[in-house]
Amino acid sequence: MKKSSLILDTIETIRTRYSCRAFSGEMPSDEALRIIAEAAVQAPSGINRQLWRVIVVKNKELLYDLEAEGLRNLAALPDNSMYERIMSRGGKLYYNAPCMIVVPVGKAETAGAELFDCGIVAENIALAAASLGINSLICGLSAFSFAGERREEFSRRLGFPDGYEIGIAVLLGYAANPGGTPHVPDMSKITVIE
Ligand SMILES: Cc1cc2nc3c(=O)[nH]c(=O)nc-3n(C[C@H](O)[C@H](O)[C@H](O)COP(=O)(O)O)c2cc1C
Repeated sequence: MKKSSLILDTIETIRTRYSCRAFSGEMPSDEALRIIAEAAVQAPSGINRQLWRVIVVKNKELLYDLEAEGLRNLAALPDNSMYERIMSRGGKLYYNAPCMIVVPVGKAETAGAELFDCGIVAENIALAAASLGINSLICGLSAFSFAGERREEFSRRLGFPDGYEIGIAVLLGYAANPGGTPHVPDMSKITVIE
C-alpha cells in the first residue's frame, strides 16, 4: 500500500506501535525527546485543564533508584503476585529504558477525570515516539515508585507541583531486539448501529 499521505502515516503508526519490554539502553536524541515532549503537551484535556506536567527523566541513577523503590513497594504488598510475576520475567520494572517521561497529575474537580487526560498524554507520547522510530512502554506500575516511604522525596526530586501525584509514565528508547508486534486487535469488539 502506498503510504504517502499524512493520514495513512498516522494510521500506520497506530497499527505498528507496540509495548517494548527490552531496551538497548541507547538514548534517543535531545531533538527527538523535545518533539515527543511537545506532542505530550499538545494532548487534549477536559475543559482544557492541562492538569499535568511532562518530566523527561534521562538520569540513569535516578531511574535505577525509582525502579528499585518500585520493586520494593511491590514486594511489600499483601498480595505480592505481581512482584513474583515480574521477578520470574527478569526482575525489571523499567526494562533497561534509558529515558522515562513521568506525567504527574493534579486533581480535577470531577474526581478521576484527570486520569482520562493522563491516558491521552501517554498515547500521544507513545505515538509520537513510534513515528520517530523510538520504542516505548506505557508503564502503570511506575506508580509503585511513588507509593512508599520515599514518595515525598521522589516527588520533590522530580519537581512535582504541590498536590500533584504520579499519573502515568512512559518508557522510551530503542528495542534490544527490534521487530516486536502489538497485541492482536479483536475486531469483534466493534459494533456499528445503523
Ligand atoms: C495504562 C497502561 C498501563 C500499562 N502498564 C504497564 C506496566 O506497568 N508494565 C508493562 O509491562 N506493561 C504495561 N502496559 C502495556 C500493556 O500491557 C500493553 O499495552 C498491552 O499488553 C497490549 O500490548 P501492545 O501495547 O504491545 O499492543 C500498560 C498499558 C497501559 C495502556
